[in-house]
Amino acid sequence: MNHGSFGACPKAVLAAQTEFRRRMEAEPIEFLWRRYEEPLDRARNALAKFVGARAKDLVFVPNATTAVNAVVRSLELRPGDELLTTAHDYNACRNVVVEAARRARAKMVVADVPFPVGKPEEILEAIMRAVTRRTRLAMIDHVSSHTALIFPIKRIIRELEARGVDTLVDGAHAPGMVALDIGRLRPAYYAGNLHKWVCAPKGAAFLWVREDKQEGLQPAVVSHGNNQLRPGYTRFQDRFDWAGTVDPSAKFSVADAIQWMAKLLPGGWREIRQRNHELAVKARRILCERLGTEPMCPESMLGSMATVRLPARFQGRPLNGRFEEEQVKLYRDFGLRCRFFESGCRRSD
Ligand SMILES: Cc1ncc(COP(=O)(O)O)c(C=O)c1O
Repeated sequence: MNHGSFGACPKAVLAAQTEFRRRMEAEPIEFLWRRYEEPLDRARNALAKFVGARAKDLVFVPNATTAVNAVVRSLELRPGDELLTTAHDYNACRNVVVEAARRARAKMVVADVPFPVGKPEEILEAIMRAVTRRTRLAMIDHVSSHTALIFPIKRIIRELEARGVDTLVDGAHAPGMVALDIGRLRPAYYAGNLHKWVCAPKGAAFLWVREDKQEGLQPAVVSHGNNQLRPGYTRFQDRFDWAGTVDPSAKFSVADAIQWMAKLLPGGWREIRQRNHELAVKARRILCERLGTEPMCPESMLGSMATVRLPARFQGRPLNGRFEEEQVKLYRDFGLRCRFFESGCRRSD
């Protein structure tokens, strides 16, 4: 039941990855150096089409955390600047903001987005209330992790833009769960994972950056690309396309994952998204009814995941290692993996 954390890669896609690895080990120089761009461009072009972007604005990164690091740590912050995040953000990404703010003597501001939530406007309003003249960047989830809400991201981006604030969309969960047209959304930055709902191998994620924001952006790992330029590529791509010697087979397999998944159902990706949404909605109805708890948001705000409030008898149980006892029992007795997390979102205080 927990596809959201790490996804699961189909055997056919793993086979494609294995073939890339075979070619890499058979001829490392040819594969990793001389003809590196061939499978890279194939994967990037397929991804560009899938997410509604131009290939030249897209780079691969190993995961969403790396993308967020690149963006936030490239900012030239001044003391007193504000970085905005929300009470629904993902801990690893918040840590990046905390660290950047600490170094620059800037301030992290956390918008108290409510949960439970009755309508998308409540999210928008909570974020806008937290904006000040000093806000430099807002890091906003497209689909939140613990609370599993689809944020009204388009309206959020436009309203922030109207106040002169750049948005970094943390879209770790979005690709494959919601239809994406990043070229139309046009935030300053968009980070997405491909190992979750696109079912690509682990190590495949992307960062999209609006043209006017590409110049000052450095990858989390600086390598050859800063002074080795390739004809036909943007400087942004030069900097990000090579991050030292790592196995590139996960990102190279992205086209295979997108294509293989598209053939799973007659209606392709649209039907996969719709079916996953219907399953999540149905499961939430069953659980809320059995557990006797109220839904935490309208069904229209759900994608392929749902968060269900546990009744009082499950609250505050002792931990068994990193998990709650009940969570361990669900796996032991029923083979069910599902995330438990403490209710009540983290706030600024
Ligand atoms: C909203 C959100 N952001 C970022 C991440 C981090 O993803 P990764 O560990 O692949 O970097 C996750 C992971 O679940 C997430 O849910």
